[in-house]
Amino acid sequence: MKKRSINPSTYLTPVPAALVTCQDKGGRPNIITIAWTGVVCSEPPMLSISIRPSRYSYRLIKETREFVVNIPTVDIIRMADHCGITSGKNTDKFAETGLTAVSAEKVSPPLIAECSVSMECRVTEIVPLGIHDMFLGEIVATHVADEAFDAEGNIRMEIINPLGYSPMDRSYRAMGDPLGWYGYSRKK
Ligand SMILES: Cc1cc2nc3c(=O)[nH]c(=O)nc-3n(C[C@H](O)[C@H](O)[C@H](O)COP(=O)(O)O)c2cc1C
Repeated sequence: MKKRSINPSTYLTPVPAALVTCQDKGGRPNIITIAWTGVVCSEPPMLSISIRPSRYSYRLIKETREFVVNIPTVDIIRMADHCGITSGKNTDKFAETGLTAVSAEKVSPPLIAECSVSMECRVTEIVPLGIHDMFLGEIVATHVADEAFDAEGNIRMEIINPLGYSPMDRSYRAMGDPLGWYGYSRKK
């Protein structure tokens, strides 16, 4: 394809639209929608989330050094968007969205019942980068919806049904059908 050069842009796309839960020291939980997230290590399992210091959630995660990355299904797109356009500073996003908080196994912030995957994380490092600070998190527990497992214990992506986000046009997207599998191109 012939390309057009534009300003340096974060056009890695699509990315997950994750719902990150955090909690203040008094036990009041909050939800923030995060698109700047990614896997950074497989062993130990680690991911990153990048948050602007102006977000209410930033202070909570910095103080408690714990968060949960929840993957919303496309069905809860409106709630995911809502958590990205309102601040939990003065509002209860669980009450506003009707999402259900469920106790986590190893960290204080809750999991979100309506999300198909939840990864409990402990912050190992906070890296100031620019307008975002990156929180590196070690995943200390992972939860996957029961109904996503088939009889052989394989995970069915149709049930995980993750909500994606495209920074290029700020649209939410669904995943399409599988097109191949890891290494399938080796097979004749
Ligand atoms: C799709 C989407 C993705 C977002 N991704 C990020 C992100 O990666 N980092 C960030 O700091 N804010 C991000 N935001 C903005 C926050 O979610 C938003 O400012 C939110 O209201 C902050 O909530 P809080 O004040 O309760 O922490 C995103 C918003 C949307 C709608």
